[in-house]
Amino acid sequence: MIQHIFLLGFMGSGKSHWGRVVAEETGRPFADLDVLIEEREGKTIPEIFAESGEVGFRELERKYLHTLADFPPSIVATGGGAPCFFDNMDWMKKNGLTVYLKTPPEILLERLKKGRDRRPLLKNLNESERHDFVQNLLHEREPFYLRADCTLEHTGDDAAFLERLLAIIK
Ligand code: S3P
Repeated sequence: MIQHIFLLGFMGSGKSHWGRVVAEETGRPFADLDVLIEEREGKTIPEIFAESGEVGFRELERKYLHTLADFPPSIVATGGGAPCFFDNMDWMKKNGLTVYLKTPPEILLERLKKGRDRRPLLKNLNESERHDFVQNLLHEREPFYLRADCTLEHTGDDAAFLERLLAIIK
């Protein structure tokens, strides 16, 4: 049975950043589900949203999640919505260890000021709309994230966070 490590959490929770760091530390391959979709489809995530809507994107997200069954045991950064659609969470739990990177909304909001072009869900929102959107969506998604096998909260100390993450994975 292939055992991936799936990093889950809201947009801006550092899944790709910590995924790369942990892959380096453990010598495991790193896979980023959004990058996999973009590479295989030959389109960016914003292009997919523009052409096929969120519904089309979610179908592709599920499809490429399942292709990970053929990957060697990897550290996988998932998109923020991946655990909340279809049976994706069950699939990930069956195929590896799921780790929720829990991040306070104020830190997410600060980080999400940047990179809005890359994130179609936040694209046309002003600061106050973004604030409400993130609070509401986080509230809606947290029950899915909390089904993860482990929850790790970032308290501001990167070294301590990495140590705890590696302890879970190794
Ligand atoms: C999404 C998060 C994005 C990407 C897409 C949708 C979401 O990934 O999959 O824009 O629904 O939260 P990140 O969490 O890496 O930003």
